[in-house]
Amino acid sequence: MRPSLRRRTVRSRGRRFTIDRGVFDPQRHLSGVAFAPHLVELVPDGARVLDLGTGCGILAAAAAERAGEVVATDVDERAVRCARANLADLGIDVRLGDLFQPVAGERFDLVVVNPPYEVGPSDDLSYRSPDLLVRLGQQAADHTARLVVGFPADDVDTLALTGLELVPWRTVPTAGRPLGIFVADLP
Ligand SMILES: C[S@@+](CC[C@H](N)C(=O)[O-])C[C@H]1O[C@@H](n2cnc3c(N)ncnc32)[C@H](O)[C@@H]1O
Repeated sequence: MRPSLRRRTVRSRGRRFTIDRGVFDPQRHLSGVAFAPHLVELVPDGARVLDLGTGCGILAAAAAERAGEVVATDVDERAVRCARANLADLGIDVRLGDLFQPVAGERFDLVVVNPPYEVGPSDDLSYRSPDLLVRLGQQAADHTARLVVGFPADDVDTLALTGLELVPWRTVPTAGRPLGIFVADLP
């Protein structure tokens, strides 16, 4: 499936998200919309949270229900523009850049990521990335002691590319593949 070709609107947890052309649609693919209510339970009150690969900003907004501060990042300029517009009233800092580069030297109480689910060369990083999972696994501990990852529950082999001990926390049924929510406590 491709990113949304037209601008459309998705509702989640009482908020409206505009999904600009080319930005990952969290309802069509059920991941962000399915993930958001569960993520809220994992965010400690007042925590500093990073939403890595924010897309339209849906997980950053959910995290902000409990967090004291949320930073959101994405490598795609279209997603950053879209998330900035959707999150403007929440005071969330949305930054452009690859992986942890926009938060170099910073630490968070929790990092959440709903990464591309496929591995390989791609001109569409919403769906497929050559190396995101491997690099995430190498760098996450420099930025957090707790990593939360959404990934198809039936594909733990691909998720294992992180090299991290990601423990299944909850499996959320969707109209498509079940979404697994995995947690790693890092040294
Ligand atoms: C599956 S979408 C998830 C979007 C959103 N978090 C959600 O749940 O709806 C993956 C997002 O990660 C972003 N992304 C892919 N590779 C990235 C990278 N190397 N660094 C930062 N963001 C990346 C994509 O642009 C896309 O917005």
